[in-house]
Amino acid sequence: MKFDNSLRLLKQAKKLIPSAAQTYSKSYKYFCEGAAPAFLSRGIGSHVWDVDDNEFVDFVLSLGAVTVGYNHPGVNKSIIKQMESGISFSLSHRLELELAEKIIRIIPCAEMVRFVKNGSDATSAAVRLSRAYTGREIIACCGYHGYQDWYIASTNRNRGVPKAIGKLTKKFKYNNINSLLTLFDRYPQQIAAVIMEPIGLEPPKDNFLQKVKDLAHKNGALIIFDEIVTGFRLSLGGAQEYYNVTPDLATFGKGIANGMPLSLVTGASDIMKLIDEGAFISMTFGGETLSIASALATISLFEQKESFQHIWTLGQKWIHSVNNLIAEKNLSSDVRTAGLAPHSGIVFKNINGIDSSDWLSLFQQECILKGVLTLGINNFCLMHTENDLEKYIEGVNAGLTRVALAKQQGSPDLFLKGNKIRPVFKRN
Ligand SMILES: Cc1ncc(COP(=O)(O)O)c(C=O)c1O
Repeated sequence: MKFDNSLRLLKQAKKLIPSAAQTYSKSYKYFCEGAAPAFLSRGIGSHVWDVDDNEFVDFVLSLGAVTVGYNHPGVNKSIIKQMESGISFSLSHRLELELAEKIIRIIPCAEMVRFVKNGSDATSAAVRLSRAYTGREIIACCGYHGYQDWYIASTNRNRGVPKAIGKLTKKFKYNNINSLLTLFDRYPQQIAAVIMEPIGLEPPKDNFLQKVKDLAHKNGALIIFDEIVTGFRLSLGGAQEYYNVTPDLATFGKGIANGMPLSLVTGASDIMKLIDEGAFISMTFGGETLSIASALATISLFEQKESFQHIWTLGQKWIHSVNNLIAEKNLSSDVRTAGLAPHSGIVFKNINGIDSSDWLSLFQQECILKGVLTLGINNFCLMHTENDLEKYIEGVNAGLTRVALAKQQGSPDLFLKGNKIRPVFKRN
């Protein structure tokens, strides 16, 4: 497999675009530079082609934004139909109302909804609303919530963020209710909201989500579910529907419009209506109609019962096959599968004292050689087929075979043909 065109464009892009990408995790830092594509040119269904015309089955899917598949005829038709009568308007468009009605029907906590563009817009809006509603300032968070000051202040990528803002965001640990209890003890009557990803790769244990909700309410704080990843992935109503725990506010993004830029903040109307009472949330493109048309078409497809069945079945088969391969190659103490079927993944430990990212790099390199694009965390779409899954398993087989050999011989470096993956930060 050759990546000459990718590498030529990458060299040029590095001079013009920081990270040579608009999203860190779509950049060469996440795909072994030199042994992986850096630029894609087109996609059909679950397959993409890079600028060297290499074909891949895509299990990254624009970091989970493409939930139906690339270039889906039905979704395309809705977008094109709308495009023929205009994109952004000077007043509201009736499609905004149509989508609002649909969202309120399908998401348990939704009584009112506001459309924005990125996940970061939605989480920041929810945080602002919680502060306006409670008159408090501190936010307790758990997960990744985007690039805005309030959240990124709490990470080590916080250059340019005033220190005062960082003091208002406190982290707690997933599946550790005591870590949240400690925050409420330390900051009595000061926490406006607890915002969390309801599930990452680890499922909630011991009724964790309900316990967080109860603890937040007992202390006069709101609970916000950041469903940017989980929305339209576990079930149409998100993790809140799947786990039957309804938050006060929720944010959805990524997968709701099959790759078109749309996200939303939704929740109880007594909180949401503060947008009309001084909690300012507004943007020029919030009501842009192509994304809204795409969301309506996407939701219609996911309303069909077999859609979620398809995603769950693919994930279950993947977990089963990969667990077998891990056992077969005697890697059970080094590698594991994690997550619920629709959002599962492969997790490497540090092996031989060598960082897990180095092993993931080798795994990814071998998958790419087999025509499989992966970051180790699975995103499935409606257009993935059984053949795609088989191809993925072949890639995993090749990747784990190489990892086992490299472990035996001492280091993944012996087999790496490109640069290692260098994540901007590891999620916690
Ligand atoms: C859980 C979660 N929240 C918020 C965001 C931020 O979304 P965006 O990158 O669209 O601003 C992300 C992005 O990956 C996310 O995974």
